[in-house]
Amino acid sequence: MKTRLEVLQREYSLAHGYNPIHSVESRLKKPMSIAKKLRRKNLEITIDNIRRNLKDVAGMRVICNYKNDVYTIAEVLKRQLDVSVLEEKDYIKNPKENGYRSYHMVVTVPVYFTNRTENVPIEIQIRTIAMDFWASLEHKLRYKKDRQMSYGLQERLKSCAEITDKLDEEMQNINILLNDFE
Ligand code: GTP
Ligand code: MG
Repeated sequence: MKTRLEVLQREYSLAHGYNPIHSVESRLKKPMSIAKKLRRKNLEITIDNIRRNLKDVAGMRVICNYKNDVYTIAEVLKRQLDVSVLEEKDYIKNPKENGYRSYHMVVTVPVYFTNRTENVPIEIQIRTIAMDFWASLEHKLRYKKDRQMSYGLQERLKSCAEITDKLDEEMQNINILLNDFE
């Protein structure tokens, strides 16, 4: 999937003169986090339970400049013949209560082993630079639960999410106008 996104990134620049992908991050869930998540779900730590219940062992994050690029990338990935969509959540159209915005997909892609093929799930989060900036600050708050109540931080972050959304919207509009001038 990492390679596929790199291909898109290069080809898009060549073919369309602009690049919808700002950056790509990927991570594999650490064994300790896998164990923790299974325990949280009251499940025994077995390979079978990981396979059946954890769809985010492989995770990718695609960061785009503009909101419409997020949908472009989601569509392009969905069109790939060997990609199957297991789950889709549009937290951009339906933001979470705390203000979180991102487009989430869980897809599977085939991985070819010597004598079998396995469709492996990957959780893909697609968001703008601004949404990513917001999510990293909000993530910090999660690990400081005792501070959540003080300084009205939850409310202030939620308000930041709304400002961020207005910024995304306006920057995109300006960019569209600028493209028309060329
Ligand atoms: P889990 O996989 O158990 O987290 O729940 P889920 O399957 O319902 O996943 P969801 O699609 O809601 O979120 C998956 C991932 O998105 C999380 O592990 C985070 O990386 C990210 N995410 C979701 N909600 C938030 C949020 O409110 N704040 C931040 N910073 N990240 C979030
Ligand atoms: Mg998940």
